[in-house]
Amino acid sequence: MKRPRLENNTMIPIRGPIPNGAAVPRPLVALLDGRDCSVEMPILKDVATVAFCDAQSTNEIHEKVLTEAVGALMWYTITLNKEDLEKFKNLRVIVRIGSGVDNIDIKAAGEMGIAVCNVPGFCVEEVADSTICLILNLYRRTYWLANAAKDGRKIHGPEALKEAATGTARIRGDTLGIIGLGRIGTAVAVRAKVFGFNVIFYDPYLPDGVDRSLGITRVYSLQDILFQSDCISLHCSLNEHNHKLINDFTIKQMRPGAFLINTARGMLVDEAALAAALNDGRIRAAALDVQESEPYNPATSVLKDCPNLIITPHSAFYSDQAVFEMREMAAGEIRRAIIGHIPESMRSCVNKEYLLMRSVNGSGPSFPYGYDILEILLSHTAFLIMLTLCSIPNILMAQANTSQIQSALTTFT
Ligand SMILES: NC(=O)c1ccc[n+]([C@@H]2O[C@H](COP(=O)([O-])OP(=O)(O)OC[C@H]3O[C@@H](n4cnc5c(N)ncnc54)[C@H](O)[C@@H]3O)[C@@H](O)[C@H]2O)c1
Repeated sequence: MKRPRLENNTMIPIRGPIPNGAAVPRPLVALLDGRDCSVEMPILKDVATVAFCDAQSTNEIHEKVLTEAVGALMWYTITLNKEDLEKFKNLRVIVRIGSGVDNIDIKAAGEMGIAVCNVPGFCVEEVADSTICLILNLYRRTYWLANAAKDGRKIHGPEALKEAATGTARIRGDTLGIIGLGRIGTAVAVRAKVFGFNVIFYDPYLPDGVDRSLGITRVYSLQDILFQSDCISLHCSLNEHNHKLINDFTIKQMRPGAFLINTARGMLVDEAALAAALNDGRIRAAALDVQESEPYNPATSVLKDCPNLIITPHSAFYSDQAVFEMREMAAGEIRRAIIGHIPESMRSCVNKEYLLMRSVNGSGPSFPYGYDILEILLSHTAFLIMLTLCSIPNILMAQANTSQIQSALTTFT
């Protein structure tokens, strides 16, 4: 017999909305590096006051936000390192509208009792599709051929076409090397197989068997993937171990004439080394959606005179639908922080370990609107210890026959 469905309205809320009204000021939530809060406002307006800062650094953030904001929403155009975080006096939660959190010192935040959350997943398909689009452009030279036609170049007949389209390559049978097989890397792998790529990947942090589920090949060193791939696509998260993963040394380990695509993070590639490799043809062509310094400046970048380079303005994640969903989700996460418990109520807290470590070390975050489960457990444990200590003299009194117990008694009274 089928079990009846649980209706949504049978769910019991963890905690009701925080009190609002003249006597209780609403918590302040600030969008740090943007102006448009039209999606966030309807989600937050009954529990918070929403402000925007449109700042590129914390120096541009208003004093009121630094002293009062309990929640911060942010895109990727502002950085919060330890010193930046220390400027906020009341901050309890930061939500990145997007997946990468490399522009926030999540460990320092955790140690200060600030939860950092992200919104993973909402632009996976967009970034994967954009990556495939860039790969296809490098192989099929569509971008350059379209520009040539637009510029009025007469490309007629096999010889003219050969001259214009030289370097255009067949995909089937080529090896695509994916560095970082997370959400986006996996989505790229699935798509690339359809085009006939032989897909291999390198990701030292994944358990065994992922390769079997996806029907792709795993390699166990960076050197191997660089050596075997005709085309390298970067999809790893940026962390303290992989800055300038693609540099002069690792480029030398790539196949001569390989392609390079980066839709992950600009800091993964040493642009000076890439410029040299593009200029001497060691890398046949490259496509970068992300750069070492953003926005890309064609007047000053070391890449400015490179042939065979496509630059896009960190736009791989963008679709009207994805951005709307990410903003809704980010505002929802802030709402859960305000009316629920941090970090238990959060869907995607990325620095839980540091927050909890802080709780265990005794300087636990004082969450403004909820009780931390660890605090409750710790206070219960402390209560039990006190109770035991207090009752020991009574227990011992009841059995006080021996001098040994008598002396133990004096220790406790
Ligand atoms: N261009 C854009 O618009 C855009 C949008 C969203 C995400 N991104 C970036 O795309 C990348 C992937 O995002 P995701 O959501 O798939 O992240 P994810 O966390 O799901 O996956 C990242 C993977 O990288 C792996 N990894 C980390 N360091 C590595 C290393 N040194 N070598 C190999 N693998 C390594 C991790 O084990 C993980 O499996 C991130 O850098 C993210 O910031 C870019």
